[in-house]
Amino acid sequence: MTQPSIKAVIPAAGLGTRFLPATKAMPKEMLPVVDKPAIQYVVEEAVAAGIDDVLVIIGRNKNALANHFDRVTELEHTLEQKGDHGKLARVMEASSLADVHFVRQGDPKGLGHAVLRARKHVGHETFAVMLGDDLIDARDPLLSRMIEVSLAQSATVVALMEVDPSQIHLYGCADVDTTADSDVVRIKALVEKPKAEDAPSNLAIIGRYVLKPEIFDVLEHTEPGKGGEIQLTDALEELAEDESIAGPVLGVIFSGRRYDTGDRLEYLKSSLLLALDRDDLGPALTSWLKELTPTLD
Ligand code: G1P
Repeated sequence: MTQPSIKAVIPAAGLGTRFLPATKAMPKEMLPVVDKPAIQYVVEEAVAAGIDDVLVIIGRNKNALANHFDRVTELEHTLEQKGDHGKLARVMEASSLADVHFVRQGDPKGLGHAVLRARKHVGHETFAVMLGDDLIDARDPLLSRMIEVSLAQSATVVALMEVDPSQIHLYGCADVDTTADSDVVRIKALVEKPKAEDAPSNLAIIGRYVLKPEIFDVLEHTEPGKGGEIQLTDALEELAEDESIAGPVLGVIFSGRRYDTGDRLEYLKSSLLLALDRDDLGPALTSWLKELTPTLD
């Protein structure tokens, strides 16, 4: 049986208020992590999982995103004339990765609402949702495992990661049962951003989902939840409560390297960690950090 083609949906219509003023005129998904915008890492991750069609849900300041995945012929021409083939290849990378489409969210009514905007493009197929705040290290593939589990069990699949209980209020949280696969759990219930004392576990939803098209019907009637927004977690909770709608909701537990670029301090750490791993920047950065450390209080 050939694997059905799976599309990826990247919601990028948030206001990015944590990074103001950098995000005043630019979506937060365009913030550079080392020398690539965060969203390019996400598209590369989709491509590595076999996806070649990506839909970005955009809000205000959409031009930077659209331009990034477009060709820039003048720049390409100048680099070509200069014979700078390394930079030319890097400029062209983003425009040749995948088919990237855009749709506007309109009113920013929450993640669930953003995902619902993908309905027409996705049609009746299983699809992936990837949030740009979470970068998954290319050496620790997660999405391909989630797709495998989803197709094998005709299931909705959410990525979960253990977090410190003091951090669970920042995430969707899952109540789970174990399964025969050590990295897969069955999700019994989900709650968006619970207080630590109310959380059913320390398993947090990280921003990767493999969803079945039935989610769209659920999202159509999902009422605003936490923060007055239509929450994807609430729609998934409805699926977990009633498996007759779309089969089971499973979690794939991720224990690899994840970089949280949605928070300023974590964003700085992520940039540093990724730069330390790079051949062109790592050695110089390491020696600078060594010099710097003894001077820190
Ligand atoms: C969203 C989801 C939340 C999830 C998180 C992962 O929240 O609503 O369930 O745990 O992404 O990054 P946000 O961080 O956009 O507020």
